[in-house]
Amino acid sequence: MNLKIAPSLLSADFSKIAEQIAAVDAAGADYLHLDVMDGRFVPNITWGPKIIGDLRKLSRKVFDAHLMIVEPEKYVEEFRRVGADIITVHQEATVHLQRVLTQIKSLGAKAGVALNPATPVQTLEDVIEDCDLILIMSVNPGFGGQTFIPNTLRKLRAARALIDARNPACELEVDGGIGRANIASVADAGARIIVMGSSIFGAGDPGDELAALRACASSARV
Ligand code: DX5
Ligand code: ZN
Repeated sequence: MNLKIAPSLLSADFSKIAEQIAAVDAAGADYLHLDVMDGRFVPNITWGPKIIGDLRKLSRKVFDAHLMIVEPEKYVEEFRRVGADIITVHQEATVHLQRVLTQIKSLGAKAGVALNPATPVQTLEDVIEDCDLILIMSVNPGFGGQTFIPNTLRKLRAARALIDARNPACELEVDGGIGRANIASVADAGARIIVMGSSIFGAGDPGDELAALRACASSARV
């Protein structure tokens, strides 16, 4: 199955980040998922463009920047400049969603929209043609290691139907609480990019765990 795995560096050990990135790179990670948090949109703070620019020197993988920040339009240019390939903003974090999607694409990056667990897929009906990626949050954003919210499966199926009907090139990503036990079910529900933080970096060997997760995903029906 054509499933992409995107390790989230949120749960990586930054005291040995080069080694951790090399391990998932070598194990065939497709994207590196970078969680940017501002302490306003979500109750946690991570890193900004400086750190992403430095990490850019460590890997040639696709950099998948998940912006959990208010007014992302103020910062997308800077994140693109330091090397983000995909820039995903939250539907809930900007008043002018269509404008920021256009802005991201004009910078040469892929434009994604993330939805919190309480935000319906239907809110994307009028921007689906403007989206390169939809990210369905399967936890409330802010922290790694949370429990997967089961309603996500219904939302993934709704997003898959919207994408297939209106913009088949759009990617469908899911993020939060995913590991060996549920990776096949999110793939069955239509997700094609799987973000995983604690299940990969909480393991003894992140590269071995990534391979084990891919094997679990192969039992998906799709
Ligand atoms: C949560 C972040 C996730 C996080 C997922 O707000 O968007 O990317 O790293 O972590 P796990 O896989 O541990 O739920
Ligand atoms: Zn994320």
